[in-house]
Amino acid sequence: MTNSTKKWYASWFDTPFYHILYKDRDYAEAETFMTNLTNYLNLPEQAKVLDLACGKGRHSIFLNTLGYNVIGADLSENSIAFAKQFENETLHFNVHNMCKPYGETFDAVFNLFTSFGYFENEIDNLSTIKAIKANLNESGFGVIDFMNSNYVIDNLVKKNTKTVDGIDFLQERRVENGYIVKDISFTFEDEDYHFQERVKAFTLNDFEKLFEKAGVYLLDVFGDYKLNKFDAKNSERLIMIFK
Ligand SMILES: C[S@@+](CC[C@H](N)C(=O)[O-])C[C@H]1O[C@@H](n2cnc3c(N)ncnc32)[C@H](O)[C@@H]1O
Repeated sequence: MTNSTKKWYASWFDTPFYHILYKDRDYAEAETFMTNLTNYLNLPEQAKVLDLACGKGRHSIFLNTLGYNVIGADLSENSIAFAKQFENETLHFNVHNMCKPYGETFDAVFNLFTSFGYFENEIDNLSTIKAIKANLNESGFGVIDFMNSNYVIDNLVKKNTKTVDGIDFLQERRVENGYIVKDISFTFEDEDYHFQERVKAFTLNDFEKLFEKAGVYLLDVFGDYKLNKFDAKNSERLIMIFK
């Protein structure tokens, strides 16, 4: 079963199966990253942070424990409904499409864990960076944490099966027209499911062009969650800090 009336990212991320497949996500690593990043940015106390495409809010919740005033925003209604149980005076979650400005300004806007490059339309990817810019106050920082596409392509596992909670997820990966495509097939309660992830294989050079068009300035580039310098061949991540 696939939901062909919706864009892939609007349906797949909203299903329980997405959260089952990726349930082994490394929370400790996410927390280390947020600690390193906020130290590096030297955000003011109680800074306002927007976690754009926050999912179920793992980074937002931790950022809030560091004392920041956090809004988590995501397109997935189910993820936001789940995250809302963690809300407090300084932590809020809302459904929002990241290619549009949020309507407030922040000391930092984070887009984490490859939550970019889903749109088929180039204008929407550019609009997302423009929206981040519009969401920043005068001293605010934008951060995009993307995969290092070169590294991912060099290390692509074409096919494997991952069993989680008794479900065998067959994952098939390929590079197609500049996108990294992952087909995910499985059977659950006698029904066959198929979903596809399609992420544009943006490189640092591609981002630099988008940043120029959006009128933001790249300040620094890191290659992992410990904030080591980016290396195009060997880094696992492409973490860009801009204003
Ligand atoms: C790879 S997940 C990462 C989630 C979260 N940042 C994390 O690290 O756990 C990508 C997220 O982007 C969200 N997303 C996809 N398209 C979006 C859009 N147009 N606007 C806002 N969020 C979107 C999905 O719903 C999903 O939660």
